[in-house]
Amino acid sequence: MKPVGRITLIGICVVDVLARPVEALPSGQGSDPLDQIKVTVAGTAAGTAIDLAHLGADATVVGAIGSDLLGDIMIESLRREGVDPRLTRKAGVQTSATILPIHPDGSRPAWHVAAANRELVSDDVPPDVLKGRDVVHYGGLTALPGLDGAPGVALLRTVRQNGAFITADCLGIKRRDTAELLESMLPEVDLFMPNRGEATTLANTDDVFAAARTLREMGAGSVLVTCDSAGCVISDKDGERSRPAFVAPVVDSTGCGDAFSAGVIVGIQEGKSLDDAVTFGLACAAVTLGQLGSVDGIRSHEATVKWMHEAEISSESLEMA
Ligand SMILES: Nc1ncnc2c1ncn2[C@@H]1O[C@H](COP(=O)(O)OP(=O)(O)OP(=O)(O)O)[C@@H](O)[C@H]1O
Ligand SMILES: [Mg+2]
Repeated sequence: MKPVGRITLIGICVVDVLARPVEALPSGQGSDPLDQIKVTVAGTAAGTAIDLAHLGADATVVGAIGSDLLGDIMIESLRREGVDPRLTRKAGVQTSATILPIHPDGSRPAWHVAAANRELVSDDVPPDVLKGRDVVHYGGLTALPGLDGAPGVALLRTVRQNGAFITADCLGIKRRDTAELLESMLPEVDLFMPNRGEATTLANTDDVFAAARTLREMGAGSVLVTCDSAGCVISDKDGERSRPAFVAPVVDSTGCGDAFSAGVIVGIQEGKSLDDAVTFGLACAAVTLGQLGSVDGIRSHEATVKWMHEAEISSESLEMA
């Protein structure tokens, strides 16, 4: 079957260790029984790549890992899921990892070690993965000190010359001096998809609609801001509007933003309007809510479309100020 798109994802690759349901940490040296503990690949490049593969895309991921067992797990898991891992093993640093004790309501505090992700540089990006691609996704704006800024701009300009659509996401806001970075990089991005916390921090406003508009005015072609249970804000040439989330059982919200990005990218590849691609992205996020971990919610394109057609739309809405 022809893939729904050839996509390269560059950036954050993390191994997540998740446990649920965690009410509180056991005190002292205590031990509490849990229902589930799971290890998965995650991150705005690696997690989104697996979601894309599940949706029928041909996905390649570029990132940095350590020479440790976590790195072996990363490579093996990506291969098993049908993603081409083009990862550089860095000496002396560990593979990036997160421990997530998932609360009964699906919320997810985390302990994170950034490590190898901070070592990713332009020389780690093989030139062939920037050619012949429909989409290149920059997964981790502000969290990739070896690429953010001039090296990232050069990379994305090469991608643009090669004709790909350029998307980007964040993994939190990992630096304070973002103004210059945004000014140089957002004009290289066709579609920027941060979450509410990231967008409002970057745009320096509490209003999510204003944040989306500001980021677009700073140069991004269009901006989508995910707002957990409240859905998503869209800002494009037609202005700002919102889309509600789907109602879905909540087990764990980890990776919902990455699933959203994957769904939107696939929707655009299928020729959908931005609003319809967003609806499919929201469906991909919603099915991800029902499973522990980032990458087990989307089973296939067909199953997700079927779920979307039967699903209920949330009554929670975002009001423009
Ligand atoms: N509690 C929830 N109820 C309903 N939908 C949710 C909930 N949490 C997340 N979603 C869906 O997932 C989408 C993305 O979620 P969110 O804004 O939490 O992304 P994120 O913080 O970037 O996640 P991650 O970085 O872990 O992938 C939302 O737009 C919404 O559609
Ligand atoms: Mg996110």
